[in-house]
Amino acid sequence: MEKRVAVLQGDGIGPEVTAAAVKVLEVVARRFNHIFHFNYGSIGGEAIDQFNNPLPEETIALCESSDAVLLGAVGGPKWDQNPSELRPEKGLLAIRKHFDLFANLRPVKAVPSLLQASPLKEDIVQEVDMMIVRELTGGIYFGQPSRKTEASAVDTLVYTREEIERIVDKAFELARLRKGKVTSVDKANVLESSKLWREVVEEKRKGYPDIEVEHQLVDSAAMKLITNPAAFDVIVTENMFGDILSDEASVITGSLGLLPSASVRSDGFGLYEPVHGSAPDVAGKGLANPAAAILSAAMMLRYSFDMETEAAAIEEAVNTVFEDGYFTTDLAGRTDRAHSTKEWTDKVIDELDLQFVSN
Ligand code: NAD
Ligand code: IPM
Ligand code: MN
Repeated sequence: MEKRVAVLQGDGIGPEVTAAAVKVLEVVARRFNHIFHFNYGSIGGEAIDQFNNPLPEETIALCESSDAVLLGAVGGPKWDQNPSELRPEKGLLAIRKHFDLFANLRPVKAVPSLLQASPLKEDIVQEVDMMIVRELTGGIYFGQPSRKTEASAVDTLVYTREEIERIVDKAFELARLRKGKVTSVDKANVLESSKLWREVVEEKRKGYPDIEVEHQLVDSAAMKLITNPAAFDVIVTENMFGDILSDEASVITGSLGLLPSASVRSDGFGLYEPVHGSAPDVAGKGLANPAAAILSAAMMLRYSFDMETEAAAIEEAVNTVFEDGYFTTDLAGRTDRAHSTKEWTDKVIDELDLQFVSN
């Protein structure tokens, strides 16, 4: 197959980890006889510096003419004092909204060889296999009014029934392909938007009688994520709760540098990016863990290109590299066995090559 991939490297460790993902995709293309065209565009802080716009028109046009988008991360201290419209994060929110990427899929799975990297006990972590389904284009991130004066500030949390219905459907469909359980996370004891959310889940579940459904308030969900994370299968929740819970969930696996994500709509087009940010504290030092970006590339193959075998090959290679004891600093900080971003990526590539020799 021939596919066009827009690569938006962004800021901080963004360029380092997307370079790793592109390198891995190039090997996959060679091995499976595909042609991937990588075209680079600007987003975030570097786009503000170049174009005075965190999401330039050229970038939108590039993504519109592509089959999928691979994104690094945006943001950094350099732009933290900018006015809201000229913040890197605005570019990310704008691209999600422009392409109507309402469903953000964030898988969290324990890696057997990394159980010790988690601050949680091994027996709590070992069976963890969940998918956080985060609504991505609504809620308090986008509601109007949103403004601040000296004296007060307002943000608006608004959801329409349709917005909730489509993300809840997505969660039920995913649960069917997994362990058959949906946990809907809300704050229905306080928020009107959560009451509507819960109503929609109750209506939708009638269409999925095979799926087990539970409602969980977000505060206790945050607690259960740590005390009994293996009890979750699919978690479906609104935009900001999903943002917070997914960073929390990354701790279960051992590092934020491990979690990939897919931001998709219903037609196969998608944007693929790590859950983590631009990590300014480690940027430019070769310390970034590229696993999240590489696994995001695997999700791109799976969800946008329908290349399940190729996606699984990447995931297997990543797992084998961990099993063989190769870690980046975030995972191996307590030992002297840490490898650089590049060394670790090359291990994944060696592993992919080995898969082909042995097959
Ligand atoms: P962060 O995710 O960038 O970093 C949090 C911590 O995790 C840091 O200590 C960092 O070093 C570490 N970390 C994250 N990813 C890592 C990796 N791949 N390898 C090794 N260590 C890793 O969150 P933050 O520090 O709160 O935010 C920094 C900037 O990133 C902010 O401007 C924020 O807005 C932005 N951000 C962007 C995205 C995105 O583009 N999708 C996501 C989150 C945060
Ligand atoms: C994420 C990030 C973004 C979000 C920020 C950078 C706008 O934290 O992708 O998780 O809050 O969605
Ligand atoms: Mn986040």
